[in-house]
Amino acid sequence: GKSGYPHFMLKEIHEQPESLRQTLHGRVEEMAGRVTLEEFDRGAFADIERVQFVSMGTSHHAAMYAAAQLTARGLTANTYMAGEYADCPAPIDDSTLVVAVTQSGETADTMNAIRRARDAGARTLAVTNVVGSSVTRECDESLFIRAGPEIGVAATKTFSSQVVALTLLGERIAEDSTGVQRAEMRSLLSGLSDLPGDVQQVLDESTAADVAEALYGCDAYFFLGRGPAHAVALEGALKFKEISYEHAEGFAASELKHGPLALVTDNTPVFGVITGEDDLKTISNLKEVQARGAPVVVVAPANLADKVEFADYLLPVPETHPEVAGVLANVQLQLVSYHAADQLGRPIDKPRNLAKSVTVE
Ligand code: F6R
Repeated sequence: GKSGYPHFMLKEIHEQPESLRQTLHGRVEEMAGRVTLEEFDRGAFADIERVQFVSMGTSHHAAMYAAAQLTARGLTANTYMAGEYADCPAPIDDSTLVVAVTQSGETADTMNAIRRARDAGARTLAVTNVVGSSVTRECDESLFIRAGPEIGVAATKTFSSQVVALTLLGERIAEDSTGVQRAEMRSLLSGLSDLPGDVQQVLDESTAADVAEALYGCDAYFFLGRGPAHAVALEGALKFKEISYEHAEGFAASELKHGPLALVTDNTPVFGVITGEDDLKTISNLKEVQARGAPVVVVAPANLADKVEFADYLLPVPETHPEVAGVLANVQLQLVSYHAADQLGRPIDKPRNLAKSVTVE
């Protein structure tokens, strides 16, 4: 049941401290600065230099987040919309790992992509929530995100667990192949260990319902970010459109002046996602849209509050490692989408035309 929540989506948003604890359980040795995944021996990824992610929808955004992290570790990491990859697979070689990211493990586009990769001789790995799902049978190896069952059509807790599981996988791959900086790893792992508690703090203190109430019913909604925050911006927009039925788009902050800025008016709120000192450049993009009259909502770590005072609305997240901050920012955006859809009276758990698992292309 819904345990007293009006919708499964809100219940599942609130389950995230626990689902993230399960995702992390037994996998992080914070003091040693090491990740242990029982599925993969040390050295299992020693010959991996390239990672190709294939996925759809929210899972694709989790893959984009992970690819940005892996790229920063010196690997070649690319994301492909699985439906596109199935039609036109990317070239692979002996150092390529193809990773299917799929909550349900049943998505037709993702299955087709992984079959194409396997037929071409690639090593394949499934990152999924469902033990025994089709993707686990099709891939050489599997990593489970352990988020627990998700009933709401909108993916929420599974996105957070995908990002965390992919971060752990990425650290294992990087450790085996390019090597990792132990101190940097400790700081990331400390951020991951704190994540369940930090998500709880966001859930307890969020003013997302007030932001949604102030801004629902506008012409369109835009979401901006760079690096992993770009993936969060895309995910924020996808969630918003699918349950509120309002027009929402996510952009790379750098893309703004190359077209999307023409859409900005005083009736198009813009959400900016900032994860740390490295993506503060997004602030100048947000000031640009604000100068055109757009209401600006900034989601940023609380320690950067003085840098984002210009925002019309601030949704702070606890200070943490920047690669973890995106998950916290996404929780704020989940709540904004939920409350906007609720204000509009939408059938939140079963949005029109959508199915939980898309098993036909
Ligand atoms: C969005 C959503 C969809 C799925 C997509 C992939 O909230 O739920 O975009 O993310 O259909 O599904 P899986 O992860 O099961 O492959």
